[in-house]
Amino acid sequence: MEQKKEILKDKKIIIIGGSAGIGLATAKAVAAKGAIVIIVSSNQQRISNALQSLPKNAKGIVINASDERQIKNLFEQVGSFDHLVYTAGENLRLNNIADTEIASAQQFFNVRYWGAFTAVKYVAPHISKSGSIVLTGGIAGARPNKGWSVAASIASAMEGFTRAMAMELAPVRVNVVSPGIVRTDLWSSMPETDRENLRERYFFTSIVSVSVY
Ligand SMILES: NC(=O)c1ccc[n+]([C@@H]2O[C@H](COP(=O)([O-])OP(=O)(O)OC[C@H]3O[C@@H](n4cnc5c(N)ncnc54)[C@H](OP(=O)(O)O)[C@@H]3O)[C@@H](O)[C@H]2O)c1
Repeated sequence: MEQKKEILKDKKIIIIGGSAGIGLATAKAVAAKGAIVIIVSSNQQRISNALQSLPKNAKGIVINASDERQIKNLFEQVGSFDHLVYTAGENLRLNNIADTEIASAQQFFNVRYWGAFTAVKYVAPHISKSGSIVLTGGIAGARPNKGWSVAASIASAMEGFTRAMAMELAPVRVNVVSPGIVRTDLWSSMPETDRENLRERYFFTSIVSVSVY
């Protein structure tokens, strides 16, 4: 039991998307267990605000997760570390497929899917063999609602990618967490009444976690 308590002590953890929401909550939780946290996002002000709520040894780095070169530089800059968490994502725009512009649907994959894919590519030389990678999917993959075509596609693609990477990168563990409806800025573009309806509807399925290998 004592050993379990210490499992994250002094481990270096990079959280891409760590300036807000689920990523920041993760940063606080692992920092409370003694981990050394590096939060990464695209906005310096949000990082500075987030660092106020983390221990003094936490660091922040600004990158745009849709830029391959910036992701590569990030891992070169940090050097060796233990765990990667990827929660970066933009505000949701839900639309029925008939009203969905293909270019904007494609663009939505950039941070959420291709950013994670790129991070996994460049993390391999730097991550500890006993470490782990945790990616983010979403309940939309398994339990979609009307208007969720893009979110459902990304969530399902992320699960497939995670399984493939768990095979390829072992002994590094690769998992995907699929959140239900979590109160964060992600939903800020949706009217409050719609948000409440959604939360009520998905209340009982609010946490789905897919653990692979
Ligand atoms: N909340 C939910 O109900 C829910 C449900 C299912 C799935 N998810 C997924 O879970 C993940 C986290 O969601 P959340 O609710 O925590 O969202 P959030 O509160 O909006 O946080 C998103 C994080 O991503 C960062 N980010 C956005 N664009 C970025 C970019 N180009 N480069 C680097 N960082 C970027 C943001 O920081 P900056 O703005 O500082 O860049 C922020 O730290 C997302 O992939 C989301 O789609 C969430």
